Amino acid sequence: MEVIISETAEASSSAAARVVARQVRENPESVLGLATGSTPLKLYRELIRLHREEDLDFSRVTTFNLDEYVGLENDHPQSYHAFMHENLFRHINIPAPQIHIPDGMTPDIPMFCEGYERRIADAGGIDLQVLGIGSDGHIGFNEPTSSFASRTRIKTLAQPTVEDNARFFDGEVSRVPRHCITMGIGTIMSARRVVMLAFGEGKAAAVAAAVEGPVAALMPASILQHHPDAKFFADEAAASQLKLGDYYRWVYAGKPEWQRDA
Ligand code: GLP
Repeated sequence: MEVIISETAEASSSAAARVVARQVRENPESVLGLATGSTPLKLYRELIRLHREEDLDFSRVTTFNLDEYVGLENDHPQSYHAFMHENLFRHINIPAPQIHIPDGMTPDIPMFCEGYERRIADAGGIDLQVLGIGSDGHIGFNEPTSSFASRTRIKTLAQPTVEDNARFFDGEVSRVPRHCITMGIGTIMSARRVVMLAFGEGKAAAVAAAVEGPVAALMPASILQHHPDAKFFADEAAASQLKLGDYYRWVYAGKPEWQRDA
């Protein structure tokens, strides 16, 4: 993993947005894997700005979102469908048929999940996957002990995740859905490039374990140590428990200008 530490979440997000923008400019038909949660919000804001002010064109891009809650209608305000529409899609020029988000209301979950994997394959696979990290180390909704070989499927949310996400449901834990459909860790690892983001002290322990700990199913994000092209953008707070923080800064500062994102 390449660890890129920036002073603030804003600086990290702009740097990550430059990586996504370069991907889309180099291949206008890029297939992007997208994430929800509070972490990618600033990245999406920057992509919207690049679209408006610097002609970043999404008209031929295809997207696949990581996950969705089971049992929420697409127009439920806390659904990831609503989140993506509100925070990205309605502000850029991506045609609706090119947008894919798991359907939390599907009557046949296993069949839907198989079809989702097939659609990703038919699109040519994911070129660049945007990822956040849960405080328990989850990626997508792949909770601790998820198989590293897993593909899109139904999962039960772990208690820390339900508690973390209760803030989006008026703080009421009982209103948070218990199940979700999520791309698997195998699906995520098949993406050609991964751009991972983590901000704030609440993520510091998970970041340190994912980057410097052993690769273990108890810490799903640690599998990215095996990904050939994963960049991990963290702000100072999220990077605060890394043992080798100075080393990552030194390595990054020594890179030639054209290889730097931040
Ligand atoms: C959520 C999402 C993940 C996200 C993570 C962190 O539950 N399913 O994809 O990365 O948890 O969320 P946040 O960015 O709000 O901290």
